[in-house]
Amino acid sequence: MQSATGFEIDPHYGEPAKALWKETPLAITLADFTRQHPPIADKQRANLLICNPPYVRHHHLTVEDKARLQFAAEKTANLALSGLSGLYCYFMALAHGWMSHGGLAGWLIPSEFMDVNYGRALKAYLLREVTLLHIHRFDPHDVQFDDALVSSAVVWFKKEKPPANHEVRFSYGGTMQRPTISKNVSLIDLECTDKWTRFPKQNAQAAHTGLHLSDLFAIKRGLATGDNGFFIVDEDKAHSLNLPPKFLRPVLPSSRYIKGNEIHADTAGVPLLEKRLFLIDCELSADELARDEPALWAYLQTGLKNVAKGYLCRSRRLWYAQERRPAAPIVCTYFGRSDHDGQAFRFLLNNSKATATNGFLMLYPKPMLAEQLVRDPTAMRRLWQALNAIGRETLLNNGRVYGGGLHKLEPKELANLPADALAAVVGLCEKCAPRQLALV
Ligand SMILES: C[S@@+](CC[C@H](N)C(=O)[O-])C[C@H]1O[C@@H](n2cnc3c(N)ncnc32)[C@H](O)[C@@H]1O
Repeated sequence: MQSATGFEIDPHYGEPAKALWKETPLAITLADFTRQHPPIADKQRANLLICNPPYVRHHHLTVEDKARLQFAAEKTANLALSGLSGLYCYFMALAHGWMSHGGLAGWLIPSEFMDVNYGRALKAYLLREVTLLHIHRFDPHDVQFDDALVSSAVVWFKKEKPPANHEVRFSYGGTMQRPTISKNVSLIDLECTDKWTRFPKQNAQAAHTGLHLSDLFAIKRGLATGDNGFFIVDEDKAHSLNLPPKFLRPVLPSSRYIKGNEIHADTAGVPLLEKRLFLIDCELSADELARDEPALWAYLQTGLKNVAKGYLCRSRRLWYAQERRPAAPIVCTYFGRSDHDGQAFRFLLNNSKATATNGFLMLYPKPMLAEQLVRDPTAMRRLWQALNAIGRETLLNNGRVYGGGLHKLEPKELANLPADALAAVVGLCEKCAPRQLALV
């Protein structure tokens, strides 16, 4: 090795590292890497770049830093990064300028970019601007770092445009040298695949031409109340505060308080669950409240100093007014562990009038299904059973996975599930769907 350069912003790590490498060609600079200028001449640039970048999430970056980094990423690597990208994406973009043509790079980064929207730009870079050689993904149950809840991947690439018919090695589990499984995947298959974590376990995805769950249901995330502790009360609290029942809507408790997959209700539509909760839901103006509803007004006053100032509440017309989210006949828990009882996601049949918070996804029948349900009210139960019978791999593959085996399914990801079998269960089929959808 002729020479090597390293950057570290934090003197706590940087100073000992500097001392450790003092007698070697590795020069460590204590500085912000994103503010350094790479060498202009290609022969002065590095032919090997190794990086374990900081895993700082986007909400910890200032607006000014994001704008500066986005501009620099585009200029350096033709990488148009979304504002939701973590700092490691900007590191990858900026490092492009430090590499010589044909140089090799190895990155240890969160595997999240392989599945999520903000990762699209990074994937486009890896497919088109450089030659992606190998991605090894560690088993998420085997978290690489105790202090970061991420599942990690090592990404190897060469700084030159890819040759025709290029294939990339994908490996998973074990170690990079001795993975549990590996497979070569063509660039064309990678271009056509949204979620790269399906490799190497699965083959490339054939585009689904039939129905999707979004043809049957409108899928919405449950309510973001602004402060569950303030806006959600149990019966005792509601009584002690003398809150008028007309402003209390039943709301589902967290899924860990819902043992079975069916929610029964009393005659008022309140769930028959041990934990009975209510959402304070009122659209009266402050003047009307002060005049007509003194008890509720007095309670809301107690939230003026903190709750009302929260991001969500302060952006509302009335800081205490909740979004409209009628009870949905089916709700889905979309955050779970695959290793727990084998069911990371549960579909609950909701026979109550309870709405749900953003701990759930809410499934509202679209007109095509709603019409069918009028004809055959028992169809919803069959549909619910069929939803819970969806193969666990199918659901997990549509979602995303975090370190420690935590899985998450976004509304759009759930909406994208193939639903031909589900439609058939309720007497709808692909052939009748377009006609019925046209009526919508
Ligand atoms: C994931 S750690 C990697 C540490 C070490 N290089 C290793 O591989 O074990 C990321 C390191 O990046 C440093 N860092 C964070 N922001 C930086 C920046 N803008 N420029 C240089 N280093 C930075 C952090 O202080 C942290 O030590």
